[in-house]
This record gives sequence, C-alpha cells and structure tokens, in this order.
Amino acid sequence: MTAAITFIGLESSCDDSAAAVVRYTPGAGAAILSNVVAGQDLLHAAYGGIVPEIAARAHAETLDLVVAQALRDADVRLRDCSGIAVTAGPGLIGGVLSGVMCAKGLAAGAGLPLIGVNHLAGHALTPRLTDAVGFPYLMLLVSGGHCQFVRVDGPNAFARLGGTVDDAPGEAFDKVARLLGLPPPGGPSVEAMAVRGDPDRVRLPRPLLDRPGLDLSFSGLKTAVLRAWEGLDAPTAADRADLCAAFQSAVRDVLAGKTARAIAAADVPLFAVAGGVAANRAIRDALAAVCRSAGVRFLAPPLPLCTDNGAMIAWAGIERFRLGYRDDMTLAARPRWPLDAGAAPMLGGGRKGAKA
Ligand code: KG4
Ligand code: ZN
Repeated sequence: MTAAITFIGLESSCDDSAAAVVRYTPGAGAAILSNVVAGQDLLHAAYGGIVPEIAARAHAETLDLVVAQALRDADVRLRDCSGIAVTAGPGLIGGVLSGVMCAKGLAAGAGLPLIGVNHLAGHALTPRLTDAVGFPYLMLLVSGGHCQFVRVDGPNAFARLGGTVDDAPGEAFDKVARLLGLPPPGGPSVEAMAVRGDPDRVRLPRPLLDRPGLDLSFSGLKTAVLRAWEGLDAPTAADRADLCAAFQSAVRDVLAGKTARAIAAADVPLFAVAGGVAANRAIRDALAAVCRSAGVRFLAPPLPLCTDNGAMIAWAGIERFRLGYRDDMTLAARPRWPLDAGAAPMLGGGRKGAKA
C-alpha cells in the first residue's frame, strides 16, 4: 500500500491567518488533523473594511504561531510532513507574500517539497476533502471576495462558467449593513433583520436575471437599497427590517435563478456551494431547492471549511502533489490568478482582494 501523505497548508490571502494539517491515506481517504484560523476583525473594525497593510503586517506576525499551533493540535512534527502548501494567490498581495515567504522558510528549513496553491482551487476542491466526491461537479463560490460558477473537471481543470462583473454578494451584504447602521459582519446582521421584515414592501431589481448567461452583478442592488433608504423621511426599525428582507430576497432570487441555469449548462450530477454567504439560511435553502428540482445532489461543506481556512489549501496541495506538481524557491505571490486561464478576465479589484 502507498504511504499516507501529510501536508500542512497555509492561508493568508485576505484577513484570516490560517494553517491546518491534512492527511490523505490511500484507501481510507482524507482526514483533517488540525485547522487553526486567526481572524483580524478587531484590527480592521475601526476602518469599515480591510486595510491591506494592516492585514499583511498581522499575517507576518501571526503565521508562524498559527503554524506551530496547527502542528501541535495535529500532534505532527514538521519534518514528518510530506510537504507544505501555501496560497500563492489571488488575494491581497502583502498577505499572500507573507504566506509564501513563511512557507518557503519552512520548506527550506525542513527540506520539504513546497506547493503553491490557487486560493480559489482550495475552495473549489473542498467537496473532495469533506465528501470524497468524484469529478465533474459544479461549484458556486460566494463570499465577500468571490462570486463565480466553476465546473470542476479535475484537480487542475476548472472551467469558469460565469461570475460577478462588480461586487461579490458578501461585499454587498456588508455595504448594505453599513448603510443601514447594522453592526459587522454585515451578512449575519442583515439576515437577522430580514427575518423580521416584509420582503415585498420595497421592490428591488434582480440584476442581470433577465439576461442570458451566467454573469452576475450586485453593485446596482446596493445602490437601489441606498435610494430606498434615503427616500424614507424618518426610517423606523420596521423600515430597516423590510429593506433587509427585500435585499436578501433579491440576492437569493438572482443566485437561485443563475444556479438553475448553471446546472443546466454544466451537466453535472452534483452542485456544491462554498463561501461565507452560503451560511445564509434563505440563500442556502433556495439553492438546495433548485438542486432538488433539477435532480442533482446538493452539497454545502460545514461553514469552517466554506470560509477561508488552511485545510482546503493543504488538501489542494495534496491533490497537486499526487499529480506530481512541485514548486521551488522561485514560487511567486500573485495578486491575480484566474482559476480558468482560458476565461475572460474579470473586472474590479474587490474590497476583499482580487476577484479572479
Ligand atoms: O468566505 P468568507 O468568510 O470570506 C471571504 O470573503 O473570503 O465570507 C465572508 C462574507 C462576508 O461578506 C459576510 O458578510 C458574508 O460572507 N456572510 C453572509 C452571512 N454570513 C457571512 N452573507 C449573508 N448571510 C450570512 N448569514
Ligand atoms: Zn476565500
């Protein structure tokens, strides 16, 4: 029998410094031995968004501690690992650079193979880590920095079927929350208010839903919320709840409508969703219902593996390692790195990093 493969994975492309140890045993599958995430919410709270320089500095200061913790939790020594995987992009360049430099140091010090991973590939391969699914499948990455439909045909074969042309949905949730004076993080705040609101009192647009194709847009929706809010004389708590409900329904309808279309276009037996927005109950339920009526399996990995984490990077590293990929000390940090090199480039920089 072939020996087990144990990887440590490092992630630092946005505002989470993360490290995890994952082991793949032929015949037995994947096991997450540890998964450590150090967030930076408090550091950025005063600024209303992520400050790239603060994020980079925090990653540089925190990563080695997070790595040590991940090894301790897993009860694994660095020299017993088979290799080190690190997010090499896309993302905020200072953070990606911190991770790549840390991983290079560890690889050189311990004499281990180094593997650079595309952050989006980490998200896209997560269903294979959690549920050992086969190829092909369709993935919706939907968070504060990402929104795209990807057909996953192999560990290194991704077809981008469509995505946002401006904001990511999580970014829109965060902006709407700020606009309405709700506390961060925006998604859960808006969702909690929406439960109490009437989604039909204010009619908001469903951007691009009436157009063919799989591209999405959320920036106009946020502006529509702003107009509706400014149109109120003395807004009440009920007005706020109604606007949250209307906004959430609009995002839900757009994501559900485009998902139905993406499933038809991709012709796959499984649809999986990942990213912070997948935590939204109304959106998740709507996507599950779309899958039921299309007759495809629906998969939403547990939330700690949907949001940014080191386990998905370790796993993507193992997948690449098994295919024979190796990087060396010339591995570069890339602010932009499209998953599907053949797809048209995306617009916009994105508050939470590059939208690849
Ligand atoms: O995946 P994630 O932790 O980080 C990245 O953006 O990469 O996603 C965070 C995003 C934030 O924009 C947050 O507001 C949104 O996901 N989010 C939600 C919910 N929980 C988190 N959006 C809608 N409803 C939620 N319950
Ligand atoms: Zn991410």
